Amino acid sequence: MKILVTGGLGFIGSHTVVALQSKGYEVVIIDNLSNSTLNVLKGITSISKKTPIFEKLDMRDKTDLKKFFLKHKDIDGVIHFAASKAVGESVVNPLLYYENNIATLTYLLQNLTELTQQNLIFSSSCTVYGEADNLPVLEEAPVKKAISPYGNTKQIGEEIIKDSCSAHSNLKAISLRYFNPIGAHPTAAIGELPSGTPQNLVPFITQTAIGKREKLSVFGNDYPTADGTCVRDYIHVMDLAEAHVVALERLISSKSEMNYEVFNVGTGVGSSVLEVVSAFEKTSGEKLNYHIVDRREGDVIAAYADTTKANEILGWKAKRTLSQALEDAWRWEQQTVLQ
Ligand code: WQD
Repeated sequence: MKILVTGGLGFIGSHTVVALQSKGYEVVIIDNLSNSTLNVLKGITSISKKTPIFEKLDMRDKTDLKKFFLKHKDIDGVIHFAASKAVGESVVNPLLYYENNIATLTYLLQNLTELTQQNLIFSSSCTVYGEADNLPVLEEAPVKKAISPYGNTKQIGEEIIKDSCSAHSNLKAISLRYFNPIGAHPTAAIGELPSGTPQNLVPFITQTAIGKREKLSVFGNDYPTADGTCVRDYIHVMDLAEAHVVALERLISSKSEMNYEVFNVGTGVGSSVLEVVSAFEKTSGEKLNYHIVDRREGDVIAAYADTTKANEILGWKAKRTLSQALEDAWRWEQQTVLQ
């Protein structure tokens, strides 16, 4: 079976390509290389010994996308990662986010609804919940007003897909609401490639430990949590990748009567920033240089998943621990210095 992975050279996309290939799927990647490089294709091939079909394509180009689907009529499923994902950037440049995350999604859906039967996995985010009233967060928790245009594009994206599935009986979809993806493939052949200064915690930690950054700034320790720092659900990117394959197989096998479903994808465990720091120090043996600074605008106090639905309906559960993810992230950081 042939699976299209849009944004397949990105962080989660590349790990999902490897997970698909390990299950025997043929993979076609489209990526505009705006946030990745062709080295990632080499990394994927070095792991799976199979080179995915790659086409450099910007999904904002409606004509190019149409041509792609005329050429690849035998696609059995699509996993859609291609999007911009920097929360802060989205506040400064919302129109880039509405074009790149929403317009491209509508072009993709227009192509899919013209095919006989299509199965779509959508990369969504726990950011749709905002500051959830109850923890762990259930899929039924109310979607709250997005605190950034990025978060808004995920909320709108889910609604567009849901409406499209209702209107087109040949389209089925699952939205996966990720919590905090971290880590890298254990071979360190692929991993997270933040462009410029990392916005996310774990790449900032590993870049500090390797000496690329002078020290980690912990954004606030006066939150109402056990140690005052924010709590998140950090999930190994390989667990997340495997969840995409399981969700896709649920659609392809038509196990679900529903034409649209939503699943949380996390570990179900919350860890504070300082707990991640100390877990990293234990795992790496490195003493991390950090200081406490003011809170970051837009941060929620705590977010971690109720994963019962994915566990019971998808039959999927995160297997890897926080320490394993930090160990893999650290190995990846160390080998990027060698490159
Ligand atoms: C985690 C915690 C920070 C950096 C974001 C997006 C979300 C998803 C995952 C795309 C917070 C603290 C961070 C630093 C710090 N992305 N932190 N110092 O904000 O939970 O989620 O990435 O889908 O949509 O919102 O992740 O890693 O940025 O922050 O103290 O240098 O680490 O305050 O408490 P976040 P994060």
